[in-house]
Amino acid sequence: MISEKITKLINEQIVHEQYAAQYYLCMSAWFYRENLEGIANYFRVQSKEELLHADKMFDYLNNVGADIEIGAIDKPEQQFKNATDIFEKALAHEKKVTQLIFNIMKNANEEGDFATSSFLQWFVNEQVEEEASASQLVSKIKMVCDNPSALYLFDQELSQRVFSPKTEF
Ligand SMILES: [Fe+2]
Ligand SMILES: [Fe+2]
Repeated sequence: MISEKITKLINEQIVHEQYAAQYYLCMSAWFYRENLEGIANYFRVQSKEELLHADKMFDYLNNVGADIEIGAIDKPEQQFKNATDIFEKALAHEKKVTQLIFNIMKNANEEGDFATSSFLQWFVNEQVEEEASASQLVSKIKMVCDNPSALYLFDQELSQRVFSPKTEF
């Protein structure tokens, strides 16, 4: 039986994931405006992944018979200084999400809610990957941002990313 507290935290996390999707969409729009369609594509795919995370939590709450209550999504910041600023904000945001997931995990562990702990383990692993790739991209954008031909190649590289729901889903 899932507690009210854990139910509330996961309901809130659904909105955090949807907020992340909106935030990445803002970032994507910025790159489209700069004619960096490959990087824009990367953030667009990232946005879709976040929506899947929200869906996964929605399904979980439904499966355990919890009350689902969907909250409002705040408007994300959309004033960015430059490309590096965006990648840094993406990394900072992933770190924030990791802490939110850890907090739910901590509460689930304290309550002995093994079902939720087991469910959240996927997200803990996912956040390790998310932070690793976000921080790698911060390093890369810093390498290429002042060199148009390098930036062009970086944009080409990120254009290869396609949206593919992971098999765990
Ligand atoms: Fe996520
Ligand atoms: Fe994420």
